[in-house]
Amino acid sequence: MQTKTLFTGFSPNLTVKAVRKACGFLWLPWRWLTWQRGTEIEKVESWLKSYFDVPHAITFDSGRTALYAALEALGIEEGDEVLVQAYTCVVVVNAIKWTGAVPVFIDIDGNTLNMSPEDIRKKLTEKTKVMIIQHTFGLPADIKSLTDIAHEHGIKTIEDCAHSLGTKYKDEPTGTFADVSMFSFGSDKVVSCVRGGALITKDDGYARKIHKYHDTLPETNVFRIWQHLMHYPLFFIGKKLYHLGAGKWILGLAKKIGLINKIIYKQEKDGRQVPFYPSKFPNALASLLLPQLKKLEKTIEHRRNISDIYRKLFHKKIQAQKHSTDHTYLRFTLFVEQPKAVRSIAKNHGIFLGNWYDTVIAPKDIDWSRTGYEQKSCPNAESYAKKSVNLPTHIGITPESAKKIASLILEHA
Ligand SMILES: Cc1ncc(COP(=O)(O)O)c(C=O)c1O
Repeated sequence: MQTKTLFTGFSPNLTVKAVRKACGFLWLPWRWLTWQRGTEIEKVESWLKSYFDVPHAITFDSGRTALYAALEALGIEEGDEVLVQAYTCVVVVNAIKWTGAVPVFIDIDGNTLNMSPEDIRKKLTEKTKVMIIQHTFGLPADIKSLTDIAHEHGIKTIEDCAHSLGTKYKDEPTGTFADVSMFSFGSDKVVSCVRGGALITKDDGYARKIHKYHDTLPETNVFRIWQHLMHYPLFFIGKKLYHLGAGKWILGLAKKIGLINKIIYKQEKDGRQVPFYPSKFPNALASLLLPQLKKLEKTIEHRRNISDIYRKLFHKKIQAQKHSTDHTYLRFTLFVEQPKAVRSIAKNHGIFLGNWYDTVIAPKDIDWSRTGYEQKSCPNAESYAKKSVNLPTHIGITPESAKKIASLILEHA
């Protein structure tokens, strides 16, 4: 019988220490007053300013809210066009739509899974105002070519660093090349506190606008913070008991009755906003995030070591996302002919492989008519999405488990 389940997602950064801390916030009454406000938010913002050597860092409830704030600060208006790559998440598309702008989907550049400069040139119009540069899974985009096009055409830039905190491009961290850059601290990201996000910028004018918008936001309501804190003990127990069947049951029920949050709500999948967001970043979650920020370099080193094992084992056998020494490998992505079958076989062996992104805009159960994506408009993205399977690289994966995952895939793919 399988004794331990290996997950790609499922809150990979969750540690015993974090569970203890979350329980402290939940069960010690004097800590309840610090759920929304406190000194930890400023510490996260200071860490970001210092790490990126920028004067401004502003936190939000999520990356999607931060992205919306960035677009507003860049002065986007109704009908403006925003370049965004296909092979992304629906919440990115929603953030654009909520500003009144139109997302223009750009194809990806082969197996980099990042935006193609050639396709941008074909899709530029008079209305193009902003380019969102995504560094998919931690592989830096071709920033030089992309920002050259942006400068040539007076287009403002946002780096979407939801996957790439700690990634470098020409020795400088991603997030330092665009007018404004966005980060996510969602549950499956490089560092995570269930839900959170931030913007950084060097520009005082943009920072003023971002702060002005931030000041209008409410605190995250206490029920939502309670849900995020409950995520820690419930996921900890759920993951431990998964192989017995009880974990799946506990987590499924917890989600159903609202003991824990959803990563993407039904309304968001349908292109609508939820009533309880956007909001400010809660202090309790900032406190859970800080220790991970301090360990960032170690986490990245681990992800690279695990990815090296995969890379060597799959070399010349199964195609993977392009390798680069700058890649920080949030996930190690392979391209196989039958990804569903591979995921299913792995699941039977207690291994949950990832499905980021198995459609050009993920997840697949979205209202496609609201996204504005035209089928066949980004053929590379469509083709790679159909073949993508991602492997875990997080701190819970040992070299032995990486070898076990790889050999299972090699046997069946
Ligand atoms: C590429 C990308 N950008 C932005 C986001 C939004 O981040 P958040 O979940 O913190 O809103 C996501 C979310 O998964 C993402 O995958």
